[in-house]
Amino acid sequence: MKKTLNDLTIEEKLRLICGKDCWNTCDLDGKLPSVRVTDASMGVRMPVDPEQWGGDRPSVSYPSLQMLCNTWNTGITREYAECVADDCLDYGADILLGPGVNIKRNPLCGRNFEYFSEDPYLAGVMAREYVNGLQSEGAGACVKHFCCNNEETNRLQQSSEVDERTLREIYYKPFEIACEAKPVSLMSSYNRINGVYGSEYRKGYDILRNEYGFDGLIMSDWDAVRNRTKAAKAGCDLEMPYHPEHYEALVADYRAGRITEAEIDLCAQRVLDLVDRCKKLQTGKKRKHALEERIGFTQKVAEEGIVLLKNDGVLPLKKGQSLSMCGWFARPCAYARKRPELTCGGGSGKVERLTPMFDMLEILQREHGGAVTYEPAFSENGVDSAFMIPGNAIMNAAVSEVNLVFAGTGAGIECEGGDRRSMSLESDAQVRTILETAAVNRNTVVILFAGAPIDMSEWIDEVAAVVYVGFPGERGGEALANVLTGKVNPSGKLSETFPLSYEDTPSAQCYRDCNVTRYEEGLNVGYRYYDTFGEPVLFPFGHGLSYSEFEYKNISLKKTGAGLEVGFEIENTSDVSGKEIAQVYVRAMSSYVYRPYKELKGFAKTFVKAGEKERVTVRLDRRAFEYWSVADDGWKIEDGVYEIIVAASCSDERLSAKIQIKDGVITVL
Ligand code: BGC
Repeated sequence: MKKTLNDLTIEEKLRLICGKDCWNTCDLDGKLPSVRVTDASMGVRMPVDPEQWGGDRPSVSYPSLQMLCNTWNTGITREYAECVADDCLDYGADILLGPGVNIKRNPLCGRNFEYFSEDPYLAGVMAREYVNGLQSEGAGACVKHFCCNNEETNRLQQSSEVDERTLREIYYKPFEIACEAKPVSLMSSYNRINGVYGSEYRKGYDILRNEYGFDGLIMSDWDAVRNRTKAAKAGCDLEMPYHPEHYEALVADYRAGRITEAEIDLCAQRVLDLVDRCKKLQTGKKRKHALEERIGFTQKVAEEGIVLLKNDGVLPLKKGQSLSMCGWFARPCAYARKRPELTCGGGSGKVERLTPMFDMLEILQREHGGAVTYEPAFSENGVDSAFMIPGNAIMNAAVSEVNLVFAGTGAGIECEGGDRRSMSLESDAQVRTILETAAVNRNTVVILFAGAPIDMSEWIDEVAAVVYVGFPGERGGEALANVLTGKVNPSGKLSETFPLSYEDTPSAQCYRDCNVTRYEEGLNVGYRYYDTFGEPVLFPFGHGLSYSEFEYKNISLKKTGAGLEVGFEIENTSDVSGKEIAQVYVRAMSSYVYRPYKELKGFAKTFVKAGEKERVTVRLDRRAFEYWSVADDGWKIEDGVYEIIVAASCSDERLSAKIQIKDGVITVL
């Protein structure tokens, strides 16, 4: 039977809100069940020893959340989370410490691969779907990190200084949308928000609870609490992991009257509720997907998350074409012992994969059929002296029909606890190999394993195609081969802008300021900036090519009780069936306050058979037209004209129509 506060002494309540060890909540010497939490972001990362941070059990390695988001497929996101919930059940984890929904404010953030998007609506919708999938299959979610944890440099100290409107519209927004799925918990951030530590951020916690309907528990990030009493008084219910000194200080503060029993009760009650909710979530739950199915599913996610960035027609490969391949990233299997982390990011989200690393040489030899050569040419950082850089790669490229260069970053560069030094490949050897092989083979395809934007200015014009893989999980090699050979038609699109250079990013001037980071760009994060100011980019938000051609036609708007229904047709004018991601943006045309040029408010991914067309409907609710009014201290819908734009990417607008809003009433124009 569920324990109540009346069953507990004050000493027990104090213990309850401090955690038991690194990964369990306190069980009060067997009086209560513990809740076991585990890391997240590419699957389940569970250390064997609950007292240790590391020493992980191998488990299914999924594509990273950044790659999942590039699918723009809410169904896949839900299934992904259901599979991860099955992993949690297998490993006895009650709560997954994810998803991470922080906004990708700057392309250098070392944890961008763990987050969804630069756009709060897209990140929020994916997070909501994720939480729904996870919790429906028996694992609790812990949406993280609240809030404004957008850089890793000095993350334990740094203060993110952000104005209220930007907080509401950009940085809180994914949490607000995720809360609709009723996550059992949320994790606060390490950094300070306008001077206040994430673990003491009462103002934000009150918004979560009183405005977003969050009724779960707030836990600290690991070792983020400075003062347990202050954190508890602010509403941080649980400190993780257990810290004896913090617990003792809390007891002393209670005895000295610096924190009341009523304040402790609020936190303790939420821990009791958490235990109860987690156990209820699991009641009667069986694994929905067998282990083999989950591993197979990672391939499906990767196939939909790979983004074809550029293609002058060289892809898909033609059967029997001779191929030259180079770069360590092609054969992570061969270098796994030396560099186990080529195709994933590092830190708490890194998963010890179950199956051996893939080998593109072997897969392409099998799947493609033609002659395939391979040359290491460079390691991931290009400093390995064992190789002639680029060695035989140039000779091989010169005599092959298509040349594939496998490049990227990996966990050595993209990792929790630090930011990337630059947006480039950070390896002269990689860049030299791309340029020198492209100079002898016009059909050079660059294949990128990375979790964030790459500066391609030195080489983009020299190559025929670029395939952005991301960090693709267990079956990434098979998924990539299917996309290269055309067995799978690519259908991923970017969930973040690829700028031309780092200097172009709106936050470049105010990032990594060490102690205080002023978010001077305000609302102009990602495409909101480039689009509003007409700044050119390398690849826009929402961009991704297909082997099909799609045309958009016949937009119609229909008023519904709660908002607006946007209808349109997508016609596949090619002879290849494929999926298209249509994006719906809203543009406030006659606003009295600053609005970014347009903002994403809906999207749909639709399969269209070759030569056929499909009618698509996207629903916009009233929030699609709101902005946060600082003057009124609330959400407001202005009277005026709004343009509804249907686009294939942020810079590829296809259809548009207008509405007028007066006193909250919509009229289709
Ligand atoms: C990370 C969290 C993670 C926790 C537990 C922290 O360093 O910021 O995202 O869940 O460690 O590993």
